[in-house]
This record gives sequence, C-alpha cells and structure tokens, in this order.
Amino acid sequence: MSIIENLFDPARYADVRKPLLEAETLPPDCYISEEFFKREVETIFMKVWNFIGREDRVPNPGDYAAFEFVGVPIVLVRGRDRKVRAFSNSCRHRGAKVMQGNGNCTVMSCPYHAWTYAIDDGRLIGAMEMEETEGFAKKDFGLIELRLETWAGFLFINFDHDAAPLSDWLGDLPEVLASYNLETMVTTRRVEYDLDCNWKVYVENAMESYHVPTVHQQTLQKQNRDHNPPIPTNGEYCGLLTRHTGSRALLPGAKGFPYIPTLEGPAAEGTYYVLINPSTMFGLTFDCMWWLELHPVSAEKTKLIVGSCFPKETTERDDFEELVGNYYDRWEKSIVEDNVISDIQQIGLRSPFVKPGRFSYMEPLVHTIDNWVLDRVLSK
Ligand code: FES
Ligand SMILES: [Fe+2]
Repeated sequence: MSIIENLFDPARYADVRKPLLEAETLPPDCYISEEFFKREVETIFMKVWNFIGREDRVPNPGDYAAFEFVGVPIVLVRGRDRKVRAFSNSCRHRGAKVMQGNGNCTVMSCPYHAWTYAIDDGRLIGAMEMEETEGFAKKDFGLIELRLETWAGFLFINFDHDAAPLSDWLGDLPEVLASYNLETMVTTRRVEYDLDCNWKVYVENAMESYHVPTVHQQTLQKQNRDHNPPIPTNGEYCGLLTRHTGSRALLPGAKGFPYIPTLEGPAAEGTYYVLINPSTMFGLTFDCMWWLELHPVSAEKTKLIVGSCFPKETTERDDFEELVGNYYDRWEKSIVEDNVISDIQQIGLRSPFVKPGRFSYMEPLVHTIDNWVLDRVLSK
C-alpha cells in the first residue's frame, strides 16, 4: 500500500471518530503532510464559504485589495456602483497577477503588457496591438468573477459555482448574533501575522479554554478557568458562550467603553467565541467584536489576520483614541501568546516520535473540528 493511500484510509482515524473521552487526537501527520493539506484545499477550501474580512477594507469606489487564498490570487474591488466584487487576479493574456497590494484605481491594469479591466465587472477594456489577432474579441477575455456574498458587512468567497448560498452555510448564526448590530460596526484595526503552524493548530487553540491559565497567565489570568458546553447550532459553525461580567476584550482592570445598548438574551450575559467553519473565529463581547481570519498557505504555514470592530457610536466618542489602546494592548498580547504556543506545538508535531494524544473534557470543540475535517477529507 502506498503512503498516500494509507494517509486517507478511514481505518487509520477510527480512534479520532470515537466519543470525546474515548477518542485520540488527530494523527500528527495531518498537521505536517503536504498531501493531507492538498486534500484539505481540494475538499474543504475550494468548496466552502471562506471568510475574507470586512467590506470596509475597500470603502470607496475604485478601492482594491489583492491577496492570495490557498494559492489563488484574488482582487477585491469596489465598483463605481459601490458594489464589492472579487475577481481571479490572473490576467487573461498570459496569466500575470494583475493587481498588487492595495490602493485605489480607476481601471485594473496588468503590469506586464498593460491589458486593462473595468472595476465594475472586470470586462477587458484595453488590449493594445491585438487588432491582428484572428477571432480575438475583448468581450471574451474579462477577469473571471468569483462568488462573493456578504453578511452584516463581512465578506465570504466561494470558488465553487455550485455551492449553496452563504445563508445556508451560516444557518441561524445571523439570528443568534443579531443584537450586536454587526452591520453597523466599524473596523478600526487590522493586523496580519505569519504563523509557522498548520491552520488546524490555530483553530483548535482558539476554540478551547484549557490552555488559558498557562499560555495567558501573564495577561488573561484573572479570567476563571471557564468550561462551557458548546452552544447548540444550526449551521456550519460551532461556539461557546462564557457567562461573566466585564468586557473580555480588555486586560483585567483596564478602562473601556460603554456596552452595546441593544444586546439581549445570552449576548447580554457574556462572551461568544464562535468558529465559522472551517477557519474563522469571532469573539463577541459586551462592547466590541474581533475576528481571527486564517489563510492556509501550506501544511506548515498560515497567515493570520486579526480584525477589531466597534459600534459606530463608540468610534465617534471623544475618548475613543485614548481608550482603544487598552483593547489593542489586550489583543496584541494574548494573540502573540497564542501565536507563540501554536508555533511551539508545530515544532513538536514534526518529530518522528510524536504520537496521537487524548482529549480533556475541556476540549470538545477540538474533537468536533477534527472530525469535521475528517468527514470532508475522507469522503472524496
Ligand atoms: S500578462 Fe497581462 S497583459 Fe500580458
Ligand atoms: Fe489563547
């Protein structure tokens, strides 16, 4: 039997499939094998709704942002009609990456032979010296548009034209989070980090509180060792609700902003930590929300983007600039702690002697996430 067949043999994962307290963790090669990663890209990231940040990243007509997601170059651009669209950022001439970085443009122009594309619909509007090319029609060579849908100002792309709409993917999540009025929030900070770990290492960390007293002992240590059962969900997400007082986006004792006045039900009682499958984490607390957006790069490399959003009224306060640093300080410290421990875990996972471990009762969502991945990767 070849190594590859063996890697995708369901029998090899039988112990991960058992109930939490009987189960083993994922075999370590699921975090280091490029073959396994390639299968995840094919069966997960090329099929699902992938979170790519917030609409206010490109606030004005002509604003664009170019980035890659699982190796696909993408350009996000706001048209003159104010609609945000995503295009495959590969030139229809000989494939060069058309737009670089971010900024504002009136047309999208390829740096190689200057073919130009419209910001509204990606149609090819300029292609010099092509008059003699037989049967060439500009209308057939526009940039390829990708499926892009929005929920409450958050953007999701899907590479699969046959996938069900975003609303099916999110299920009842918009309803559960309705009282935060996310659509009226403003992104005030966006920071990128390069991680030397597999994307699942980071997701698992974000969805368990078992590590908080050790990894965050210098920062979040005054938070109790929380253990909360996963919330019931009806959609492609999972989450925890921690009931407590005081904003979870501040370090102990730091001064913050007034609470979001519209919060009701469980949202008024604590903090939600939500994973939108497969790799987007939202934290929602009394006064703000933050997101952790992962772009898997390879089996052992991941880009992390952390965004912070506050209600518009909060951002308009006279003391906003003075106090918002308390929040940025909390995110910066605790996120770097998680980044460091994730890189440390990845180094350990690379050892030829490492073996699957076992779960604590405090890690139910790690088990759920790992089995979600196996459901897709092994179903091909
Ligand atoms: S590759 Fe873009 S114009 Fe030639
Ligand atoms: Fe953490």
